[in-house]
Order: sequence, then structure tokens, then C-alpha cells
Amino acid sequence: MEEKKFNQIGVSFKGSGSYVPDQILTNQKISQKVDTSDEWIKSRTGISERRISSLGDNVTEMGYKAALNAIEKANWDVKSIDLIVLATSTPHDLFGSAPSIQAKLGASNAVAFDLTAACSGFLFALITASQFLKGGGFKRAIVIGADQLSSYVDWNDRRSCILFGDGAGALAIEATNEIDNFIGFDIRTDGERGSFLNLPSKNAINSITNNIDFLSGGFAPIQMNGQEVYKFAVREVPIIIEKLFKKTDYSSDKVDWLVLHQANQRILDSVGDRLKIPREKILSNLEKYGNTSAATIPLVMDEAIRNNRIKQNDIIATSGFGAGLSWGAALIKWG
Ligand code: COA
Repeated sequence: MEEKKFNQIGVSFKGSGSYVPDQILTNQKISQKVDTSDEWIKSRTGISERRISSLGDNVTEMGYKAALNAIEKANWDVKSIDLIVLATSTPHDLFGSAPSIQAKLGASNAVAFDLTAACSGFLFALITASQFLKGGGFKRAIVIGADQLSSYVDWNDRRSCILFGDGAGALAIEATNEIDNFIGFDIRTDGERGSFLNLPSKNAINSITNNIDFLSGGFAPIQMNGQEVYKFAVREVPIIIEKLFKKTDYSSDKVDWLVLHQANQRILDSVGDRLKIPREKILSNLEKYGNTSAATIPLVMDEAIRNNRIKQNDIIATSGFGAGLSWGAALIKWG
């Protein structure tokens, strides 16, 4: 295929990294807690096990380890990093965890901030960082997706607790004025359907003084309408990817890899079928990690890069989707 040249600044992909906690929670173990079975979970979701954070595995730690990994692969001096964007819905510090990651890395010349868009978070963060690079002024960025949903799952709710796990992934991206490997993107939200998947605040009324109350902070466990989320994903994801293909003059047959948010194997298969992308081109690591929210896309990509499946110049169609509701797609060329 002919290389597209751009006059404006483009983006290239330089490295990937990931981290998952050691603790493994199998379907078998979940079935000791709620009324379910390994067979039911595997056949409905494709998931066999997931990783669960233990003390020390918070989003800052996991995100830091994934970022460090990506920086090493890119062979960058940490001082050369201009921007760190952390996609997470479960920060270690609600005021923002990205600056702590910046400090741990020693990336003192970077500006670092959090971005929340649930399971679409990594994609939204990748797009955000790319726009910073293309806008000029920023040369090197680390985009991290990290989540610790195990802290917010209702472990007595068999309809949702089977899906989620913890982890982190990161990509190192760089501005260049020679090529643009960030080919295109599209993103959407629909707050009208937001109630299908929530992690809402849950406040308790307390008193400051006799006649002044305040609401102490906290969060309720994840609430999910699985069937509605499923229908949303299999409908909207193929539509947004097809729209992106049209916009960028690409098509399914030009794609080397379909990298979807890892929510459910049946969603991956169904989206692949609708786009006529064969199964062997659809990356999946759901079996081992389940849905790690903002971490899934960089986690599955990093694995495929390390295993030499994703290679230099491969075309990747990627899509994130989830709470918000939010969804989006990006088309990139690796390298
Ligand atoms: N084990 C055994 N039975 C279960 C179960 C479990 N873990 N969870 C639900 N069931 C039961 C239900 O109670 C229901 O029983 P009933 O028919 O007697 O009422 C039956 O299985 C079917 O439930 P249903 O909700 O229709 O199952 P499903 O085929 O839609 O699968 C999900 C449930 C959650 C796996 C599926 O809807 C899904 O993956 N949705 C998308 C969720 C998602 O990806 N969320 C994150 C997006 S970022």
C-alpha cells in the first residue's frame, strides 16, 4: 500500500508495556462464592480466570509498571517524555493518579493527568494524546490504561462479578513530521443510555455541626444490565468501525488486526462477523484476564507485540466501548 505523506505533524507508535497482578481468580473459585459454574462462564463469556489486585497493586503501581515497560521498549530517556495520560475509572487518588506515576518514573518534564471514560478510556486517552502531539508542542507521550475494578465489583452478584479483573497497559507514542500512523478515529457517547452500566457515588449523610449536614463520599458497587450492554456493543461497534473505514478509505480486508475492548468473547466474535474480519485476526486474551476495563486494549496489544504477532506496519482497527455509554474506534499502523 502507498505510504500516505502528511504535511502536518503525525504520530508514530514506539513501544508497549503491560502489568497484571499475580493473584489468579479462576471460575472454579468464583463458583464457590456465587451460584455459577466454570462451564457457564466460559461458554457465555470466554473467560476462564482473571487477576485480582492485592495490597500494593493499586492503579498507580500497575500503571507505573506498564508505563516503565513501554518506555524501555521505546528506548526513551524518561526526561524526554512530555505527556502522560492515564485512563482509569478507579484511581488510587481521586484527585488524580497520573502525577504520582510521573513522579515514580522520574519523568519530571512531563505533564500528567487522568482521564475517565470507563472501558473506552484507553481509546479516548490515545486519541487525546495524539491530538496533543499533532497540535505541536508535545513530542513524546505515554498513554496508560489501568483499572482495579475488583474493588468495586459486587462479589455476590453473579451477573457481573464473573466479568471483571485488574491490570494495566501502556503505549509510547511520538510526534513525527514524516508519516502519520494514526490514520483516523471517531468517538461517541450517549448519556441517555448511561444507566445500563454504572459505578455510582453512594453518599451517607453525616453532620458537621448541629444544623449543617454533609455527604460523606463513597461508591456503590458496579451496576450492570448485561443484556442491554451486550446489544449496545454488537450494534454500535461495527457501525463506528465501518464509518471510520469509509472516512479513511480503508476496508476490513486491509486490516491485519482487530483489537477490541475485551468484554466478552461473544461480542468479539459477533463484531468480527459483522465486519467480515476472520477470527484469526481478532486479538483476544479474555480467557486469562477477563475485562480489565481501560487496560484491555494496551494489554492485549502488548502481548501480541511481544509474541511477534503484531509487526511493524501492521494495520490495526481498534475499538473501545462501555459505560457512559461511550464508544469509539481508531485506525492505526503499528510503528
Ligand atoms: N452463572 C449462572 N447463571 C447466570 C449467571 C452466572 N454467572 N449470570 C446470569 N445467569 C442466569 C440468569 O439469572 C438467567 O437465568 P434465568 O433465565 O433463569 O433468569 C440466565 O443465566 C440468562 O441470563 P442473561 O443475563 O440473559 O445471560 P446472558 O447470556 O446475557 O449473559 C452476560 C450474561 C453478562 C455474560 C452478558 O449479558 C454480557 O456479557 N453482557 C455484556 C456485559 C459487558 O460486557 N459489560 C462490560 C462492558 S464494558
